[in-house]
Amino acid sequence: MTKRSTIGILISGRGSNMVALADALREGRVPDTELAVVISDQPQAAGLAKAKERGIETLVIERRGRKRAEHDREVVAALKAHHVDLVCLAGYMRVLSREFIEAFRGRILNIHPSLLPSFPGLDAQKQAIDHGVKWTGCTVHFVDETLDGGPIVAQRVVPVSDEDTVESLSARILKQEHELYPEAVTMVLSNNHRD
Ligand code: GRF
Repeated sequence: MTKRSTIGILISGRGSNMVALADALREGRVPDTELAVVISDQPQAAGLAKAKERGIETLVIERRGRKRAEHDREVVAALKAHHVDLVCLAGYMRVLSREFIEAFRGRILNIHPSLLPSFPGLDAQKQAIDHGVKWTGCTVHFVDETLDGGPIVAQRVVPVSDEDTVESLSARILKQEHELYPEAVTMVLSNNHRD
């Protein structure tokens, strides 16, 4: 019997990468994998409605007014309760505590809108334009204690033109993100099954 994997997705906002992953799973482009839960730390995240529309279970675990470790303990407990094997951060705007990383060591992915290690942190697309690079892109990487510095799983390259604004460049990168993330999840899960 084929072993099924279970993923959980953490969001804070729009949730377009979450939608790309959910649609790829539904269409069988990420084989033998189910999406157990979408968790947001922001009650007003637009992605929550998009998940609900698709019949996906959603949870809000609000960060406001909570200490990071305490908030993370609740998120980890929810992921474990849903038997999640792989955690996908998709626009999740909170740095994870050491305890969270320990709980899912080597089983947390993030997508970042630059060719890491260039332009980690916030506003990666603006950093690329300000720097005058001619090529940028997006990266899926494992999450460790470093800021956007964990081992790289996959990347896509995107050209930058002189006319680009942060908005136009972000849109071009985002299109690639939506293809890259499902591919990267598929790669990681098929490697896990080989262990
Ligand atoms: C994406 O650009 C992703 O690379 C970054 O945050 C953005 C999230 O967008 N980490 P969305 O919420 O998936 O639409």
